[in-house]
Amino acid sequence: MRNIDKDNITDVFMSYFGPDTDPRLRQVMESLVRHLHGFAREVGLTHAEWQTGIEFLERAGRISDDKRHEFVLLSDVLGLSSLVDMINSDPAGTSSSVLGPFHIAGAPPLPMGGDMKRDFGGPLLLVRGRVTAPDGTPIAGAELDIWQTAPNGMYSSQDPEQDLYSFHGIQTTGPDGRFGFTTVRPVSYTVPTDGPVGDILNATGRHPWRPSHLHFIVKAKGFRTLVTEIFPDDDPYLDEDTVFGVRSDLIMHYDECPPEAFPDGFALSGKVKEPFLSASFDLKLVPETPAA
Ligand code: BEZ
Ligand code: FE
Repeated sequence: MRNIDKDNITDVFMSYFGPDTDPRLRQVMESLVRHLHGFAREVGLTHAEWQTGIEFLERAGRISDDKRHEFVLLSDVLGLSSLVDMINSDPAGTSSSVLGPFHIAGAPPLPMGGDMKRDFGGPLLLVRGRVTAPDGTPIAGAELDIWQTAPNGMYSSQDPEQDLYSFHGIQTTGPDGRFGFTTVRPVSYTVPTDGPVGDILNATGRHPWRPSHLHFIVKAKGFRTLVTEIFPDDDPYLDEDTVFGVRSDLIMHYDECPPEAFPDGFALSGKVKEPFLSASFDLKLVPETPAA
């Protein structure tokens, strides 16, 4: 085809696929290019704007490494990561929500009733719940990989003052599907703004804040792995998470409790002398669909 014009270029692109192209790759590429061309036509994209976009992608590539994932952050602030989460979330289970860039593999075991707060300042939070199937049947032996910010709003991987695994732990549910641990109340924090994605937030008048949350990856044999976060209902950023991670079933409530209400069976039982916060919620996993 040599008479390419702005109206037929999309169809010409579609005609260039080789006959052996994987059908799913072809479907994804056709749709991607149809939308990309449609976007350029719709806004009447100028050369200068195209160039700005290319330079943005180059800057994102230059700042990225094995610890800094600027393209993931871009996907997060554009709402794409959350959209993919929601497209693939099964409504029978707890909603999934963004993994984020601060999970680190290999966290130490957190025994049932264990404590992650240690000597950090800030309000003590008692977290309890169960991992269940959609019908409420408890799942024994489920593994919860848990992580959160320190009271200074930083994850351990961002903060040279913290141990690598501070506020990270892996807990296994007991026969009744229960989990339980103590920690510090997580705080709201900003996504990294010192790169090109920060420039986009700034240029579009957006703030970089995320509501405070606890992260979980929950794995159990025979069930789909759940990547999610749980947010307190009193966080000021709950309705304006810059990465769109909040869903109504992911909201917990903190009860303020007197020290004498602290339960038995926790590492801190008998040692709590101040009022503490308590939250409980269940995490529902959906069975794995057998391969077709
Ligand atoms: C996080 O929750 O850790 C996170 C998610 C997306 C972007 C930045 C941080
Ligand atoms: Fe986070």
